[in-house]
This record gives sequence, structure tokens and C-alpha cells, in this order.
Amino acid sequence: MLEIYAGLMSGTSMDGVDGVLLDFSDKRPCVIQAASLEMPQALKAELLALNQSGQDELHRAALAANALAHLYCAVVDQMLTQSGRTASEIQAIGAHGQTVRHQPASGYTLQLNNPALLAELTGINVIADFRSRCVAAGGQGAPLAPFFHAAMFSRPNECMTVLNLGGISNLTVLPPAEQDQEKLLGFDCGPGNALMDYWCQAHLGHAYDDGGAWAATGRVHDDLLSRFLSDPYFNLRPPKSTGRDLFNPTWLHAQLAKVSAMPIPPADVQATLCALTARSSASAVKDFAPDSTELLVCGGGSFNLHLIKLLQRHLPGCVVRTTSDRGIPPMQVEAAAFAWLARQMTRRKAIPLKSTTGAKGSRILGCLYPA
Ligand SMILES: Nc1ncnc2c1ncn2[C@@H]1O[C@H](COP(=O)(O)OP(=O)(O)O)[C@@H](O)[C@H]1O
Ligand SMILES: [Mg+2]
Repeated sequence: MLEIYAGLMSGTSMDGVDGVLLDFSDKRPCVIQAASLEMPQALKAELLALNQSGQDELHRAALAANALAHLYCAVVDQMLTQSGRTASEIQAIGAHGQTVRHQPASGYTLQLNNPALLAELTGINVIADFRSRCVAAGGQGAPLAPFFHAAMFSRPNECMTVLNLGGISNLTVLPPAEQDQEKLLGFDCGPGNALMDYWCQAHLGHAYDDGGAWAATGRVHDDLLSRFLSDPYFNLRPPKSTGRDLFNPTWLHAQLAKVSAMPIPPADVQATLCALTARSSASAVKDFAPDSTELLVCGGGSFNLHLIKLLQRHLPGCVVRTTSDRGIPPMQVEAAAFAWLARQMTRRKAIPLKSTTGAKGSRILGCLYPA
């Protein structure tokens, strides 16, 4: 009999909401349906604005959370219609919410969401707020996907790595399956697509650099790349996590101002931002998984061919391929992780957070809003 959980993810890029229905009746979980809906422009602009403090932000945040719940519900409806399933067949929805602040050092991380409304709209159990308990236990609250990566991708005799190239880039190091899973590592390497998206929007008016084609026309500016990499975040040892709180347009403009009084050609800045994501992600693999034979990439950055080419160049001993080759398309992995986490919460299974997020110990993550 099928055992189905839904997962919903809207990440830092704010490009849209990705959803999956994940079936757990086999040994490895299996996606039986997926759907994505674009983030409406007005909601995206409001969520971006809510990443910084502003007037009447509590009220605006509550309204944005309601709008998100409606968008989440539309993704769930689409998956049910397309798969011919009914709400009663879904055990629970794992709904991550939209991060607008991530400040574990100050003791909090904040995802906008209205899980009560989502439960009301869908008639399905909703599990939300996965990160707060981890932060409360002294952890980073992120990344949480590595536990799903381990369930989905680990191999008996090989160390391998998974790189999620979303707005932020996160690396998971999977020890060979029979080894102690306490050796599982996961942390944010630095910016993924977020700064490239911003620069592309500002100069070309496109939401992202399709295939990395624009970056490929530019020349990497060595001083700028060194300046980027001199940010203390890159030398911090894991556990560590970051977000738009640090890697945002203000950060980028501050680095540009320090390097040159003359404007650097925009295509060269794009090439250098792409090089930054590739360099910082590849260094994380070299430093923490020197034995990795395979790097599985997921997230929208998997479609940035220039970025993938650079990654492969930095990691000659490691095959770089997308998660599609291991049974799950790149845009479905994060959503599937939250379906997996929803199931763990439903079964009251604690997640061993210590080695990945730095929390004091294992904790049950998420909060249940019954249907
Ligand atoms: N064809 C493409 N070429 C280059 N980049 C792409 C392409 N498609 C998607 N992306 C990038 O992926 C991002 C979305 O990735 P996603 O994994 O959803 O990130 P997040 O989890 O932050 O929302 C887009 O903002 C864009 O930067
Ligand atoms: Mg996204």
C-alpha cells in the first residue's frame, strides 16, 4: 500500500513553489507526482521587501503568509488532480515556509507560513516550522535536507556529496552507508544563485542567467573574486549557515566599491559571481569530502551549464552530475526533503542534528496542524 506525504518548498530564490508527492512504500522514497508554480511578481516583491525591516511589517508579513498558503494549496491541488489522488490519501504535507530572516546567532530563524490556513484549505495534516527547534537546541536550523539526502542517495562503500544550488549553495557529505551516520555533514557553502539572479535582473531585466550564458561571455575579475572570498564566512568551519541576511545586494555593492573606483563591465561581474559559487562550493568538497567520487547537483543552479562546467573543472577527480541520474530531478529534491521530514515528525522520529547543524542532540522537528 502506498504511504504518501507531500513536500512543499519555496527557497531563497523566491522563484516559485516546488511540490512533490513522495511515496514511502519502497525501501527508497519515490516521487509519484511533482508540480511547480511561479511566485506571482507582487508576492515576490513583497517577500523580498520583508527580508529587511520596514513599515508595518508584522501586518504585511501576516498577509504575505496567507498569500503563500493559497499558493501552496494550489500546488497541492494540482498534484492531486494530476495524480488522480484525493486529500485523504495524503498522510501530511511538509510545508517549509518562506525564510525572511535567518539569524541563528541571535537565537531565531523565521519562515513566513500559515500552516493553519493550509490545513483548512487542503483538509490535510500540515507540518511546518521545521527549523526553530533546531535553533532552540543551539543549532543552525539549517541545512535540514542532508538527512533526506542520506536516505535517498547514500551508497554502501563510497563517500559522495550532494550540492544544492538554490539561492544559497549547500553541501551534504554522505559517508558510506554502513559507516556511522554521525559523520554526515551538511552546511551552507555561500551564495548559490541569489547574487547572480540579482545582477542579471538589474542589468538584463531577466530573473536569472539562463544556462549561465551571460556569465560565460564575461571575464573573471581576479581581484574581485579574491575580495569576495575574503569574506570571513568562507573560512568559518561548519556547522554554519547563511542567507540573504549576509549575501545580498548591499554586500555585493560593498565588495565592488572596495575593488575598483571604475565600474567593472557587468558581464565580468556576472562571470565573477558564477566563479564565486563554483569556487566556494568546490573548496567545500575538497576540504570536507576529499574522497568523494561523485557530486550530485540539485536545485535550479543545476541548469546553469557554465556553473556546472566550472565545478567539474575544479573537481577533476569527482564526477559531477545531476540528481536526475539518481532518480530525482533537481527541482524536486528540496521539496522531497520536506515530505521526508514531515514523515519523520509524524512518526515522532528525532533527527540526529549534532554533526550537521551543531544542535546539542537529536530533536523531533516540526509542528503539526491536524487536518
Ligand atoms: N535554466 C536556468 N539557467 C540558469 N539558472 C537557472 C535556470 N533555471 C533555474 N535557475 C536558477 O535556479 C534558481 C531557482 O532554484 P531553486 O532550487 O528553486 O532555488 P531556491 O531553493 O533558492 O528557490 C533560479 O532563481 C535561477 O537562479
Ligand atoms: Mg525555488
